[in-house]
Amino acid sequence: MCGIVAYIGPSDALPVLLDGLRRLEYRGYDSAGLALLNPGGIEVRKAVGRIANLATEIEKFPIRGQAGISHTRWATHGAVTRDNAHPHADQSGKLHLVHNGVIENYQSLREQLQERGHIFHSQTDTEVLAHLVGEAFDRSTSRDGAALIEALRQALRQVIGTYGISVIHAEVPGLIVGARRGSPLVLGIGKHEHFLASDVSAIVAHTREVVYLNDYEIVAIQAEGFEISTVSGTGADFQVSKVEFTAESVDKGQFPHYMLKEIHEQPNSVRDAMRGRLSIEEATAKLGGLNMTNAELRAVDRVILTGCGTALHSALVGEYLIESLSHIPVECEFASEFRYRNIPLDRDTLVFVISQSGETADTLAALRESQRKGHRTLGICNNVASTIARESDGGVYMHAGPEIGVAATKSFTSQLTIFALLGLLLGRIRHLSHSDGRDIIAEMEKLPDLVARTLELETQVAAIAKKYARANNFLFMGRQAHYPVALEGALKLKEISYISASGYPSAELKHGVIALVTEETPSVFIAPQDAVFEKNLSNIEEVKARKGPVIAIGTEGDTSLRKVCDEVILIPDAPVYLSPILSVIPLQMLAYHIANELGCDVDKPRNLAKSVTVE
Ligand code: M6R
Repeated sequence: MCGIVAYIGPSDALPVLLDGLRRLEYRGYDSAGLALLNPGGIEVRKAVGRIANLATEIEKFPIRGQAGISHTRWATHGAVTRDNAHPHADQSGKLHLVHNGVIENYQSLREQLQERGHIFHSQTDTEVLAHLVGEAFDRSTSRDGAALIEALRQALRQVIGTYGISVIHAEVPGLIVGARRGSPLVLGIGKHEHFLASDVSAIVAHTREVVYLNDYEIVAIQAEGFEISTVSGTGADFQVSKVEFTAESVDKGQFPHYMLKEIHEQPNSVRDAMRGRLSIEEATAKLGGLNMTNAELRAVDRVILTGCGTALHSALVGEYLIESLSHIPVECEFASEFRYRNIPLDRDTLVFVISQSGETADTLAALRESQRKGHRTLGICNNVASTIARESDGGVYMHAGPEIGVAATKSFTSQLTIFALLGLLLGRIRHLSHSDGRDIIAEMEKLPDLVARTLELETQVAAIAKKYARANNFLFMGRQAHYPVALEGALKLKEISYISASGYPSAELKHGVIALVTEETPSVFIAPQDAVFEKNLSNIEEVKARKGPVIAIGTEGDTSLRKVCDEVILIPDAPVYLSPILSVIPLQMLAYHIANELGCDVDKPRNLAKSVTVE
């Protein structure tokens, strides 16, 4: 949800900022802009649309500077126009600011500023913040860095909402200030140069030494140093961290899209989710990050899983996996509902929030609400230094590596792998015997190879995608743990191909959905060989009786599906608690190839952004 990159140092800031923005484009791509400080003052360039448009604008009207701030926008306040693109200036025109987040009280602040003679040129909340900081700076008698930092403090004390910001001022060359509350901001430490960014992927090509800022912290960077303080004016403790991944891991490599690359990374990401977490000796999973003793885990009598979008779908699969392995009741709740619903929680309920980015506003709010009620609340996150990872009482990292494609893929299968680990751990301190545990571990260890074999189906899936890409509506159906996989398959197709698609439990067909079945409406059934296979088959027959085309995902060796279905994709056999990790892969590939066939922008779908840091 908007991306910020700022640079100060001896190099030309422009290529650093443009490259950083391209890497952050997944966070929003409605418009982009930058402001560079040079001896002549500050120059600004903006463009509606992608970073490529901004680059074209700069080719036409070149600028240079050794310090600058930049932004790629996902619109919240005000239409997608050049005037609403960041950076925004203050009343003097000398201060420029980029912002990620939402200033909730911007209307009243704007009216107060207008009464004091301020004139606004955009409909954004951000411009109000720029005017507030500029006004406070102009009240100051000094014109130095300390005055700019103090002005920022004064302004931030007046705002209600969330922000990750970077600010430059023409009268204070050699300094960039930033601050965060609720929207991520990371400081990159280089040799004689410093960076600010919404995400390390924007700066990892230049430095792997970073400081993840905390809420209410202010950072001031110069070429030769940095200073971190708080909005209230005190000093702040900080820790320098080393980024785990390299610049190469945030490149597309040989793949045309991040989504396809990430789909193909799944044998490794699933392996990495399990790495070091299976104990053959004790026949259980080891999840030290939970920060819970076996006695504490033994006392858990209910589990709540919450998240948004794909993370919620993974939770719904997790409900089946954890219940089947541990026999502990599990419930799932959209984080956006959980945060406002006063859900009764018993003392021994364990709450998990699930988020790839670790920054999703609704999921973060659910975490805080659960903690406020005194519940131990754990996180399942991919982004190691994210707000959710840092605020939760413990948890499990996915270790999936950066996921850049807006459509979540490898994070989903990593989350399912973690739920299987969790089910094993909770089950082993209850009814599962040592040999049960050993059997489950043996099955889990086969998983990366099974995922790799499933990926070999791509040529077949691509051909099916080509055949059905022009359909206007798709139905996805499955039973038990494959029902949420159907939801996920439908979501993938919707978000990247804009084809209407919905997911249902197969048996719901006759309760209304069957009215949608026509010769032009493909139904995708996830029907592996399991206890409900025959039931699924009957539902498939019902669709075929109405001439609806059926694409079925079955198990290798199956011979019944071919007799009824138009297309059959056979995935490797796996136990029920692992099979959703395989069955979702053809659906990811189907969505990808359909979107590609239709010429859609797979990695940056319409109206979306990778991490949703606003409510
Ligand atoms: O970063 P998170 O896992 O918290 O993100 C949650 C959803 O916004 C995300 O899964 C979204 O639904 C994806 N675009 C789905 O592909």
